[in-house]
Amino acid sequence: MSEVIALVPGTFDPITNGHIDIIKRAKKIFDKIIVAVATNAGKMPLFSFEERVELTKKVVETDRELWGVEVEGVKGLLVDFAKRENAKVVVRGLRAVSDFEYELQMAFMNRRLNEEVEMIYMMPYIKYSFLSSSIVKDVFFNGGDISKFVPEVVIEAMRKKLSERRG
Ligand code: COA
Repeated sequence: MSEVIALVPGTFDPITNGHIDIIKRAKKIFDKIIVAVATNAGKMPLFSFEERVELTKKVVETDRELWGVEVEGVKGLLVDFAKRENAKVVVRGLRAVSDFEYELQMAFMNRRLNEEVEMIYMMPYIKYSFLSSSIVKDVFFNGGDISKFVPEVVIEAMRKKLSERRG
């Protein structure tokens, strides 16, 4: 049987321990994982596209359990990227019922665009079910401790952003 390649897509602004949990779960099941750092038309990210790709790569390099995972920046449609990479599966995390409607909408649209790609949903560890990139940014920029929610390299990148902002 040929290897099953799965994409784990997201804006990753920034990547959090919740995303990492999903990537690790997917890694146990699929032969190859590509983390697809993409663009969400509805978001104004804190980190640029290039910064998000670089930061996600750094996170993968610094976590042994993620070794072997590829990270790619994706411009354009996710399903087109999936086709180019011969990926048949897209994995997303479902934290709560509130994620469902948004995910359902994306799943139907992706299927409409490419019937070949199957969406698969995984539940993160409960302690990450309340986590989001926005909440991490909010806590950090208001002086809170985010060390339990993101890896050290992400904290460093956030500190850098903060000092750039302060000029
Ligand atoms: N743990 C923690 N947080 C999680 C999570 C998890 N397991 N799963 C989702 N989240 C959070 C994220 O932190 C993020 O929080 P935020 O809204 O505060 O930033 C939010 O849930 C979802 O963001 P993320 O996981 O980064 O992905 P996204 O929903 O922004 O991703 C794309 C959407 C990029 C996959 C989608 O826009 C896409 O496919 N873009 C490419 C273009 C395309 O094909 N468009 C058509 C799509 S139908």
